[in-house]
Amino acid sequence: MGCPFVPQVRKGRGAGMLVRSDVISEISRHVQSMTDMIFSIKMRLGVEKPTDWRDIIGIINDMPLSHLTIHPRTASQQYAGELHTDEFNRLLEQSTNPVIFNGDIESPSQIDAIRESHSELNGIMLGRGLLKRPSVIAEWYQQREWTHAERVSHLLDLHEAIFEHYSKTLTGGDAQILSKIKPLWEYLGTEFERKAIKKIIKANSISGYRIAVMQLA
Ligand SMILES: Cc1cc2nc3c(=O)[nH]c(=O)nc-3n(C[C@H](O)[C@H](O)[C@H](O)COP(=O)(O)O)c2cc1C
Repeated sequence: MGCPFVPQVRKGRGAGMLVRSDVISEISRHVQSMTDMIFSIKMRLGVEKPTDWRDIIGIINDMPLSHLTIHPRTASQQYAGELHTDEFNRLLEQSTNPVIFNGDIESPSQIDAIRESHSELNGIMLGRGLLKRPSVIAEWYQQREWTHAERVSHLLDLHEAIFEHYSKTLTGGDAQILSKIKPLWEYLGTEFERKAIKKIIKANSISGYRIAVMQLA
């Protein structure tokens, strides 16, 4: 119940389910009957309103979930705009399931801040922040911000692993590999100068791409 992709939401799928209490009730019945399975939910706060969750939290509480992950935005906000922390805090109070926070976390200090302000939290989930700074969790565990050089080296290692994986598993040739890997630079690219990233995005052969990436190191 986290996906805000409009054609899905319009059909009542993804985050669109947040206002379909009939569907959630049916899911809840299945979840409660399947005692040999472990379930979790990931959701936004609402479709248009950040208060939509209030109408379904009772149904969600009836399900014994391993955790309930909340990205405190509405579907209409897509991936930007204010996080509705007040509504998130209310939900945290009302949830009988363990809650995980998700949204806009990009640095070890932000992880500390959210942990300090929300001692009841059961975990923190990172999406884009982890792609922008793949070392962020290692840095948090070590309680030490890495230097730019250390972060870049870690990021390039991750890129190398993904590149190798795509090269081995994709069967559509160089064009397919490039079309799969280039979008990652929207996130991986934040540590670098835009000019260098533009070169990567413009590369139209694997060798040109590899050279452009090597120039980042
Ligand atoms: C390109 C992209 C793809 C995503 N795909 C999924 C997905 O398949 N399932 C899901 O639950 N969330 C998906 N999300 C949402 C993220 O898991 C996360 O809830 C959201 O990006 C907010 O967290 P963040 O600020 O840490 O990225 C996606 C986000 C992005 C940017």
